[in-house]
Amino acid sequence: MPIPERFLDELTERNDIVDVVSQYVRLTKRTGANLFGLCPFHSEKTPSFSVNRDRQIYHCFGCGKGGGVINFIMEVENLDFPDAVAFLARRANMPMPEEAEGEDTSRRKRLLELNKEAARFFYAQLVAPTGRPAQEYVNRRQISPAMVRAFGLGYAPDSWSALTDAMRQKGYSDQDLFDAGLMKHGRNGGGYDAFRNRLMFPVIDVRGSVIGFSGRILGDGEPKYLNSPETPVFSKSHNLFALNLAKKSKSGYIILTEGNIDVVSLHQAGFDSAVASLGTSLTAEQARLISRYVSEVVLCYDSDEAGRKAAQRGISILQKLDLKVRVLQVPGAKDPDEFIKKNGADAFRNLLEASEGQVEYRLKLIEEQHPPLTDEGKVDYFKAAAALLSALPSQVEREVYSARVAEKAAVSRQAVADEVERLRKRRLRDARKKEEREQTRPSVASQPTQRGIRYDDPRSARAEEGVIRLLYLDPGLARNRELPAPESFSSPLLGRFYGELLHRIQAGERISLGVLAGRFTPEEMSHFTSVVDGTEDLSNADRALNDYIRIIAGRSEEQEDDLRALAEKYRKTKSYGG
Ligand code: GTP
Ligand code: MN
Repeated sequence: MPIPERFLDELTERNDIVDVVSQYVRLTKRTGANLFGLCPFHSEKTPSFSVNRDRQIYHCFGCGKGGGVINFIMEVENLDFPDAVAFLARRANMPMPEEAEGEDTSRRKRLLELNKEAARFFYAQLVAPTGRPAQEYVNRRQISPAMVRAFGLGYAPDSWSALTDAMRQKGYSDQDLFDAGLMKHGRNGGGYDAFRNRLMFPVIDVRGSVIGFSGRILGDGEPKYLNSPETPVFSKSHNLFALNLAKKSKSGYIILTEGNIDVVSLHQAGFDSAVASLGTSLTAEQARLISRYVSEVVLCYDSDEAGRKAAQRGISILQKLDLKVRVLQVPGAKDPDEFIKKNGADAFRNLLEASEGQVEYRLKLIEEQHPPLTDEGKVDYFKAAAALLSALPSQVEREVYSARVAEKAAVSRQAVADEVERLRKRRLRDARKKEEREQTRPSVASQPTQRGIRYDDPRSARAEEGVIRLLYLDPGLARNRELPAPESFSSPLLGRFYGELLHRIQAGERISLGVLAGRFTPEEMSHFTSVVDGTEDLSNADRALNDYIRIIAGRSEEQEDDLRALAEKYRKTKSYGG
């Protein structure tokens, strides 16, 4: 049973959007009914994130994200709709309605149960006598039995149907197995086990649910790792391997590595805050997840070129979230696992303690690229280093490192400080210009900013937006008026919004963003808010609405004309033909 609409209405009423947003964003500026602050969803220097108390919406003019209070929590806390509702219910001290479980939620629950059963099965296979190949591999990688248990490692046997058979016996359907990414469809319509002859790493989220798997081949071969596909319960870009364990660490920081094996190896050596991104480069969502638990991250990537690049990218993503970043390189080893095997845990602890702040790390890279040994080298080093320092947000940091750069480049501190300041001013100016440009670009003004949403007929779509905006702001306008059918809208998405509004207005109910949030995707909701956040002069609402309706109707008349012309042509061709 879906969450009752009345509950969602009350929930949104009791969680005022301004109060909720204020817990995450400092709202500093006011323009009309809108409060403004720096957008939590993209990085910016001037506030373009607006909240409107009357309309109970937020909307960012920079990145286009928007919605009601439930969408905001979904986005900022990285939750799905039912969890965001539960989050806000707790905040407002409202007990969740009984049985308030959507079809989605029960489907998700079933897949999570199946994953848990599969993890149990894999584990049992690993410790069984037939698990020899995997046991040998585990021994070869020097993974202790304690770690096998802590991570719930397992073995997917070398069979096309071992898991499938076992899960069918437990009452799971092929559809369940397929949806969980544990089964693949064969050509003849049947299915087979997706993971075969692999060491299995269950991916467990911070609530302790098994959401997916990562399977390593035993020994050499391709592909080395096989990960669960995106499923209703698993998204690679939103999760980190071993965060379920690392979040309990007392260390105060997270060690971010590339490989699952690195993570296991680090935990085994006593570094219990190691995690790995699941074979993707670090995403903003993963960074946000980390920032919920710690304020410091130690990047510990492989020592090859790819690892360096990944570290550079990681630094900028983590910094946007105000996370302190250190970089740890493992000398003489390809990755942290190999380093620990070679040199032991104490050697790693030394590296950890000596690990550099990201500024030092990047200055060192610049020094390697432009060795300040010749005059020319000094100039190049000076330029590149000043550019780096000019991007540091903290005045103190800029000064401290300027002194260091001055020494290396053999110039005065003042020279470095002046150059850094000059570049910083330019940077700020460019950023401001870019933001302004983005907001006034004509293509942005006539097409929605949300990806994947395009208008075929922009003129009609503007009118359709107008109808939606007016009805949302004043549902009373619908009284005693003939309104167009949702099907007559040129944009299917706007037609759906409008259909939803119409339905509620005709049923005499209030329009509730909470209910809409459950029916539309976050992208669609962003689009909805950008529509209703547009300016509209309500004193002229009646006339404006008539104009909009006429434009939309004109469109369908034109269409009818087209059809008539076509039919005419068809008739003519026919009569010519015979
Ligand atoms: P070892 O080399 O045995 O130490 O394994 P590792 O766990 O350190 O993995 P590696 O450094 O080779 O790769 C880092 C991560 O990238 C792995 O943990 C996987 O998540 C991912 N990865 C590696 N190879 C593949 C692959 O072939 N396919 C996919 N999808 N992901 C991979
Ligand atoms: Mn590795």
